[in-house]
Amino acid sequence: MQALLLVGGEGTRLRPLTCKTVKAMVPILNRPFLEHLFGYLARHGVDDIVLTLCYMPDRIESYFGRGGGHGVKLTYVMEESPLGTAGAVKNAERYLKERFFVFNGDIFTDLDLGAMMAFHRERGAKATIALTPVEDPSAYGVVETGADRRVKRFVEKPKREEATTNLINAGTYVLERDVLEGVPPNTRYMFEHHLFPGLLQNDQPVYAFPSDAYWIDIGTPQKYCQVQYDLLQGKGQSSLASPAKDGRPGFGARSSLHATASVEGAVVVGDDCSVGPHVRLRGPVVMGNNCRILEGAAIESSVIWNNVTVGRNAWLEGCIVGSNSSIGEGCSVGQGVVMGEGVTVGNGIRLEPGRKVWPDTSV
Ligand code: GTP
Repeated sequence: MQALLLVGGEGTRLRPLTCKTVKAMVPILNRPFLEHLFGYLARHGVDDIVLTLCYMPDRIESYFGRGGGHGVKLTYVMEESPLGTAGAVKNAERYLKERFFVFNGDIFTDLDLGAMMAFHRERGAKATIALTPVEDPSAYGVVETGADRRVKRFVEKPKREEATTNLINAGTYVLERDVLEGVPPNTRYMFEHHLFPGLLQNDQPVYAFPSDAYWIDIGTPQKYCQVQYDLLQGKGQSSLASPAKDGRPGFGARSSLHATASVEGAVVVGDDCSVGPHVRLRGPVVMGNNCRILEGAAIESSVIWNNVTVGRNAWLEGCIVGSNSSIGEGCSVGQGVVMGEGVTVGNGIRLEPGRKVWPDTSV
């Protein structure tokens, strides 16, 4: 089977983490998000993957190449300027089979793709949209269906009290290639605003495939952390690159933990890290490779990328630290702080909750 992945967006909500890389490459439990997605797709029999790129295209292509090592074949299609979700698919039309999946490239899910494809075929649908339930649909695109699951209406961001369903567009579709005939080439065009409503207007069979499989959109710092904490608690395991080992708390190769340090809860530490005397790690914590946590530091509920140094007696809680950053002695870093890559925080600095620190800056 074939899938097209939409990975051309700028990921503005995830800044400053996406200032130097793309959303699809941010690490989830120390592996690029896309690596997990490829593993999941390959296990579901999807091994022919078309990636539509626009923002920082080289980040993905230089890492994955043709994809051989990941059990999938990759084809890259570039946009000079962002064409929107449906415009990007139109732009890749020449590589597409008659029927294929489309994925928003920021969704972590363990949806049953085989069952979705079978449903699409049985119904003779032109398009099938995966739906997922959410507690508050007011920030999403809601999809109203009949009892036969045929789509009746799309409602973008309904007021909470006006939403007739809590099932939202989960950003995964099965499409027949001929639906692209109605999409103008080289034009910004969106699924939710243009293509799907147009199909309904023309009375084309558009169906919905609701599922309560694990689903999360990693597009904000809070959700980016949440997906990793969920995985550490055993949720969504079958969407990991290699479910047997990736989601397990533990220390990587050559990493050391001082005898006086303490570890509580689910903690993942990458390779070549050192955790010094009297350090306290209180999970969920995800730490990349080559990090040094110096004496007396405390880290709780945080995600730390590669090559990070945390100074003596520093205190970090509920934050994200980009690669190649250094946090000085005695600093305190509060809830919701997001640091880009290459940040230096001087000794004794207090970063107030929610602060965003741009890459390659010193505070
Ligand atoms: P924000 O700026 O934070 O909204 O993120 P985004 O635009 O990167 O992502 P959004 O959630 O809006 O889009 C869903 C998916 O579609 C993401 O995986 C994006 O990478 C992708 N996407 C959005 N716009 C385009 C586009 O114009 N071209 C391509 N190829 N992909 C896109």
